[in-house]
Amino acid sequence: MCGIVGYIGKEQAAPIVLDGLAKLEYRGYDSAGMAVFDGSEIRTRKAIGRLKILENLTRGGETMPGVSGIGHTRWASHGAPSDRNAHPHTNGTGTIAVVHNGIIENYILLKKKLQNRGYEFVSETDTEVLAHMLDYYYKGNPLEAITKVLHRVEGAYALGILFADHPEVIYAARKDSPLIVGRNESGSFIASDVPAVLKYTRTVYYMDNQEVAALRGDGICFYSLDGEMVEKESVNIDWDADAAEKAGYEHFMLKEMYEQPKTISDTLSPRLQNAGAGKVEEIVIEELNMTDEELRQVKKIHIVACGSAYHAGVTGKYVLEGLARIPVEVDLASEFRYRDPILEEGSMVIVISQSGETADTMAALRESKAKGYQVLGIVNVVGSTIAREADACLYTWAGPEIAVATTKAYSAQLVALYLLAMKFARVRGILSDEAYEALIEDLKRIPDQIEQLLAQKQTIQHFANRYLGAKDIFFIGRGIDYAISLEGSLKLKEISYIHSEAYAAGELKHGTISLIEEGTLVVALSTQPALYQKTVSNIQEVKARGAFVMAVANEGNRAIEKVSDYAVFIPETNPYFANSLAIIPLQLFAYYVAVGRGCDVDKPRNLAKSVTIE
Ligand code: F6R
Repeated sequence: MCGIVGYIGKEQAAPIVLDGLAKLEYRGYDSAGMAVFDGSEIRTRKAIGRLKILENLTRGGETMPGVSGIGHTRWASHGAPSDRNAHPHTNGTGTIAVVHNGIIENYILLKKKLQNRGYEFVSETDTEVLAHMLDYYYKGNPLEAITKVLHRVEGAYALGILFADHPEVIYAARKDSPLIVGRNESGSFIASDVPAVLKYTRTVYYMDNQEVAALRGDGICFYSLDGEMVEKESVNIDWDADAAEKAGYEHFMLKEMYEQPKTISDTLSPRLQNAGAGKVEEIVIEELNMTDEELRQVKKIHIVACGSAYHAGVTGKYVLEGLARIPVEVDLASEFRYRDPILEEGSMVIVISQSGETADTMAALRESKAKGYQVLGIVNVVGSTIAREADACLYTWAGPEIAVATTKAYSAQLVALYLLAMKFARVRGILSDEAYEALIEDLKRIPDQIEQLLAQKQTIQHFANRYLGAKDIFFIGRGIDYAISLEGSLKLKEISYIHSEAYAAGELKHGTISLIEEGTLVVALSTQPALYQKTVSNIQEVKARGAFVMAVANEGNRAIEKVSDYAVFIPETNPYFANSLAIIPLQLFAYYVAVGRGCDVDKPRNLAKSVTIE
């Protein structure tokens, strides 16, 4: 989604703003712009397309001198991508400039009122309303004007605002769209996300909902929408800028795939506690803040998430139900929030989100809390809104994920769900010591097993190169294999733009099989021994219609080679954990197909990393 960066201090603002915006490119955007106060007026430059165009237009910021500035990368929501719709937007006289992420839901009404008062609009955006409203309410005190405007707008916003009358301050405000501010000796910064400012400072403040910040070169003050001063604690960011760089890999996605063994170990190890000599580790999830007795009282779990996080949730359902025998419902957050869900006594809600800012997931969390239910967040971005608003938060320690298509955060989400399932199973006395110990051993082996699978990248690349021209690709599987299919298919279509669908293998013959033609690639997941024969029947059905079948199966299952055309094997693990291994060749396949087709792997068209609008 859109990115915001702002700077005020001793340095030239434009190069810092451009540099920060470049760090936010991963979020997805279609145009960029910047406003800088040059000592006498606010100067604005905007350009549709890549940030490079804005950089060239301003010679890396040189042609926009000044020590206070705000910038923006826009992901179009209201009005097509264009120079005119790009931010910053200004009032008619160009004395107030605004950059905005989010959506002002009542903008049509506000726009009409402003037009009746004679205000002229030059863009189709909702944001321009804010610039004119600020103009209308501004009587010399920017804070007063901002709070008056924000009391009148509905929707979500993260804002950076510059007033030509008060160039010694830039203002920031937020509601339901992420925004952080930071400081170093040279000045103060605003950004949508930490990587944008990490090169300059590690001291950041996470802005809360309906908060305004006034940033000066030598300090930051925070206010409520009533204009009252608010005290805030800064947070020290302990991951380094390298974590957000490519480190020699061709793409962030490839780098992040290679980080999966570490990600899994980092998510696992802090929750496995030594239980004494000769004993297997105990699972301790302190963040849950629940006693064993409280865990035993949980009668039903609702998992709510979007996209890949939802796919992790689908796997979670199989694992939680299978291991802990707790009924689980999994919902897409965009559906859950509007279906007036029935949550019974003893229900627990788990929301899963890499970014911790996804609008629908956040709304589902709030809906559940409003109904009086405990919400556990499984979140990657530390300090994000979902992490802060959930009653308890289990962090996945995947570090910053830059590629739009998730890989390592998804893998870490799976591990968090395995840990929860095993914890529930343990306290409910369902798992024998022997079975529990075997599961722990299998869990600990996953990082090394992923290394082995990643080492096969050339074989997968070779195979992927045969499918660069494919029109449709299908993924099939049953049970957990179906959950893996969902994610494998999403990875492929989102980055390669090849149409792909995932089907529960048994469902194919109820319609979809008519799409199979001579040579259609069907990726058949077959990691669940109990379902193996059933999946083989489905493989035979598609082969009989001319499909070319790539099977992903367990090592040692040589029989699968007879029924498929090409087979990839995953090392031995407990079937509940098979997703963590089987997804690796599917990620590699998607990646190499996309690279081979010349796609922008890290920033696929139309997609955004953090979906902060509905
Ligand atoms: C796909 C992908 C998306 C996200 C979804 C939820 O590769 O990354 O489908 O999984 O937008 O995002 P988070 O996890 O940030 O809530």
